[in-house]
Amino acid sequence: MDKHHICLHHGDDYDRFHGAIVPPIFQTTLFTNKTKDHGYIYTRSSNPTIEIAEQKIAALEEGEAAICLSSGMAAISAAIFHALSKDDHVICVSSVYPRTRALLNAYMNRFGISVTYISKGTVEQFEAAIQFNTKLIYLESPSSLIFSMQDLTEIAKLAQQRGIITAIDNTWSTPLFQNPLKHGIDLVIHSATKYLGGHSDILGGIIVGKKSRIDHIRVREREMLGAIMDPHQAWLLIRSLRTLPVRMKQHQENALIMANFLEGHPKVTRVLYPGLNSHPDYELGKKQLSGYSGVMSFIVDRTYDQIHTMLRGLQLYEMGPSWGGFESLISGIPIQELFSEATGLPLGTGLIRMSVGLEDIQTLMDDLDGGLRRI
Ligand SMILES: Cc1ncc(COP(=O)(O)O)c(C=O)c1O
Repeated sequence: MDKHHICLHHGDDYDRFHGAIVPPIFQTTLFTNKTKDHGYIYTRSSNPTIEIAEQKIAALEEGEAAICLSSGMAAISAAIFHALSKDDHVICVSSVYPRTRALLNAYMNRFGISVTYISKGTVEQFEAAIQFNTKLIYLESPSSLIFSMQDLTEIAKLAQQRGIITAIDNTWSTPLFQNPLKHGIDLVIHSATKYLGGHSDILGGIIVGKKSRIDHIRVREREMLGAIMDPHQAWLLIRSLRTLPVRMKQHQENALIMANFLEGHPKVTRVLYPGLNSHPDYELGKKQLSGYSGVMSFIVDRTYDQIHTMLRGLQLYEMGPSWGGFESLISGIPIQELFSEATGLPLGTGLIRMSVGLEDIQTLMDDLDGGLRRI
């Protein structure tokens, strides 16, 4: 089944819902089974609307099963709790989403769990970091600030030989541009808050993998921690998935034009975007990615304050920490220690992260060009 068809139609059973072309929201907590077993009990365990979203995403990731959770962080936490027990060790990429790092550093250490961060992400580095108690290798490829990548096939092979679970945050790529399960990765995680939702109106998280593993997470982490997605959120996610292919096509088109424009701009010293052959991991990306989404970073040789003032003066970009929505966003991020290690960029470098939206690209470039020329 092609991915467009999955987004548009997979999991839609018209006969089940009186021919409705859009399925209903089962806004109910309880299912009564007094006279007949309907297969559902309580929405913290499962719900028909949520299951439709899960079927679509499992098919998009070419996985056996998927579960929807209340946010990307709920999905990340559930996957990490699933993989780790007391006194285990985890290997994680240093350019990982900062909240994931905070979870590993400031929370999991209460259970004696230790972490080794890998900066360059070569297979040799992963192998050297393995300890007797390593139970999880956690990847984010491309990562969402500097877009560093890891060789998924080689790392999955290494982990399988050593009995280590692999998980990846695949949010940047979406299931349209990268399918890590095909490379042997065990668990694929998405923040559905970004491109999958795409309209900046829902929070959500997804985990995809083998049915046995996903069933385990469903009844343990999701049900016990109470982290299931709300049915209304799931309904909005189904709505969003129907336009995912056209949105991603436009994000990609706009982002490639923008990245090339920035790379040729006299005020820009460096652009970090996996779709440019100047990106250090471009060749690896070509092996793993079938497309490029719309988030990139670039460096302007000015102080953080100067950059911030310039960005606030732009007309067409909003400022904020999220990304992947219809709207273009831009923000200045001072480079911290771990990112500095991973990129070789000096501490405090004024990195600008941009989520290129669906607006007219020429108008977006003109606005940014005006801002850059003023500093
Ligand atoms: C790469 C990445 N993963 C996960 C998350 C967390 O997702 P959520 O905000 O849905 O919890 C984010 C949020 O910004 C992110 O950028």
